[in-house]
Amino acid sequence: MTELRSMRPILNGYRHWLVEAGPSGGLPVVLVHGFPFSHAAWVPQIEALSDRYRVVAYDLRGLGRTEVGDGQYAFESYVDDLVAVLDHLGEDRAVVCGLSMGGYVALRAVEREPRRFRALVLCDTRSGADGNEGKISRAESVRELKRSGMGPFTEAFLPKVLGPTTLGDRPRVVSAVEDMLRQQRVTGVVAAQLAMAGRTDTTESLHAIAVPTLILVGEEDTLTPPAQAREMAARIPGAELEVIPGVGHLSNLENPQAFNAALVGFLSRLEDA
Ligand code: MLT
Repeated sequence: MTELRSMRPILNGYRHWLVEAGPSGGLPVVLVHGFPFSHAAWVPQIEALSDRYRVVAYDLRGLGRTEVGDGQYAFESYVDDLVAVLDHLGEDRAVVCGLSMGGYVALRAVEREPRRFRALVLCDTRSGADGNEGKISRAESVRELKRSGMGPFTEAFLPKVLGPTTLGDRPRVVSAVEDMLRQQRVTGVVAAQLAMAGRTDTTESLHAIAVPTLILVGEEDTLTPPAQAREMAARIPGAELEVIPGVGHLSNLENPQAFNAALVGFLSRLEDA
């Protein structure tokens, strides 16, 4: 079991929950989780990377153990917080790896603060903003969350984020994901929905990404499918793309072995370059 060191700094007015593992002088790798999870969604990656890298995962504001406050924040605040995490760690540049919502944060951060990036890993994510349909469906989700809490949300969300292979063959993954979802606070989940509905589109700046980039996507991901990942890869100079077989939107949890092999391979090539 990897030893996790936890930190609880106040960043941009919110007490954040960070965990760190691995050698403090190692290449820093910052993991940004998806919606609506916490750093706990990265445990298999922390374990795989911590023998060699300074690996850090944190809870986005309002999620996990990071303070929720009044739940009124723009998407840009998550980017402010990522920059504050790097400052807190004393790292000028880091490899940033974001999954889905975490990828939205990473994409906007690399657009705004490109010098803070050593490399980028984009997992099951997209550069496009929400269209009208997406905004309306978030509004419905907010209504339902406020009316009925995390239980019904969790039941509706699970079959969207997990692929059919996981739903059929990996009961332990299904129940671990379900537990993580049920533990979230409604205010933070609603806040994330509203902030994501207002995020900007980063597609036009993909061509300007000037750091090594790896794109990972689950073969069975229907929320951010492989075709979308390929389009994103085609716009980012030199981007590598790997499709993880037999997994849905939560590729890092559904098949950590395959996901970690791709991630570790990318990081090793980065160090050798
Ligand atoms: C996620 O996994 O972070 C979400 O699917 C992102 C979203 O709702 O757009």
